[in-house]
Amino acid sequence: MADYTRMSVEELQAEQDLLRAEYQKFKNMGLSLNMDRGKPCPEQLDLSKEMLKMDNYIGENGVDARNYGLLEGMPEARRFFAELLGTTPEEVLVCGNSSLSMMYYLIDLGWRQGFVDSPRAWRHNNSIKFLCPVPGYDRHFRVTEYFGFQMINIPMTPSGPDMDMVEEWVRSDESVKGIWCVPVYSNPDGYVYSDETVRRLAQMTTAAPDFKIFWDDAYVVHHLTDEQVEIPNILDECKVAGHPDRPLMFCSTSKITYPGAGVAAMGASLRNIHHIAKNMVPMIISYDKMNQLRHVQFLKNKEGVLEHMKKHRAILQPKFDLVKDTFKNELEPCGKIARWTNPKGGYFISLYVMQGCAKRVAQLCSDCGLSLTGAGASYPYGLDSRDSHLRIAPTYPKLDELGTAAQLLCICVRLATVEKLLQRAES
Ligand SMILES: Cc1ncc(COP(=O)(O)O)c(C=O)c1O
Repeated sequence: MADYTRMSVEELQAEQDLLRAEYQKFKNMGLSLNMDRGKPCPEQLDLSKEMLKMDNYIGENGVDARNYGLLEGMPEARRFFAELLGTTPEEVLVCGNSSLSMMYYLIDLGWRQGFVDSPRAWRHNNSIKFLCPVPGYDRHFRVTEYFGFQMINIPMTPSGPDMDMVEEWVRSDESVKGIWCVPVYSNPDGYVYSDETVRRLAQMTTAAPDFKIFWDDAYVVHHLTDEQVEIPNILDECKVAGHPDRPLMFCSTSKITYPGAGVAAMGASLRNIHHIAKNMVPMIISYDKMNQLRHVQFLKNKEGVLEHMKKHRAILQPKFDLVKDTFKNELEPCGKIARWTNPKGGYFISLYVMQGCAKRVAQLCSDCGLSLTGAGASYPYGLDSRDSHLRIAPTYPKLDELGTAAQLLCICVRLATVEKLLQRAES
């Protein structure tokens, strides 16, 4: 292997022939591999099977979790999530299994009804905009697209969204109603917001009095190294800055216990919590409190969660290392044809290939039986203007399958790059 960017046309053609032959070998294997969605593998799901043996459904204070009541959640579950979110229990609502559905519900609430600080419901504005750090979580963008927000791309950096750009937008435009944030081990780069980013988000002046930070702490305890990254608490920072009603925080046990049967919670100012709970009344009498109780009995508290997460790490860290090592060995010698992130936690690695190559790489992989998240999926409207980003999810496949998938992916990156360089040489 040599630096592709320095190769002559003849050398590139020879490399293309070699890569095509390699690619064909993978094709002949009839593979069916998936590095698409960030799902825990079955081994990870097995870590929580003891929880399903819990059968005491009488909570503290004698509350029977099997019955209706306590829309805000079991008191012990509110205390449990308060510790994870860094709030008081009164500032927490514990709901069903999906934090995404809570985010959807709150966007819907702002749109239909407005928040405590809204001059009017968002739907009465001529235009509504939402700031979307990119690349980001595709399903966040799906929600704001569904409600008709104009989504504004904000480039992500290793310390969080480009804050100069964020401040400029929110200062000057009252129709900018919120921002999506995954502050710790972001989806998909695995970046962590710096203290400065958190404080600027809390302190910034916004033209909209009801600007909301959707603070999705989906990966807050999902460490992959000994360093247990912690950042300033957004609710505390917003209170200090005089904007207590700005943040809406979310987390869930989807990737602690079960994505299909975990527990989700949100944290916010008391004023927000009262407003949100009041508006939930027409929708639901109470959430699945039996599951809330099972989770608290099994995980106990934050310390218990962190202990449990070490077992996840033992399964996941070798998978992340394998993918990064393969990239290093197979891509680095080809010159600056790709770069990738090195997350200290979370569920994803971002792979940035040469401009104009991401779709081609995904296509080559798919034709060979390896499905990746669609190129562009991490951008609002599925539009990556550079066609360069791929979200890699190493968690689900078995280690040996992952090795094959990572090798194939590198062949596809190299082949797509050589094709692009040859096209450029021709034009
Ligand atoms: C950033 C982020 N938020 C939320 C979710 C989904 O969370 P839940 O299962 O609690 O709806 C995911 C799942 O991949 C995610 O990556």
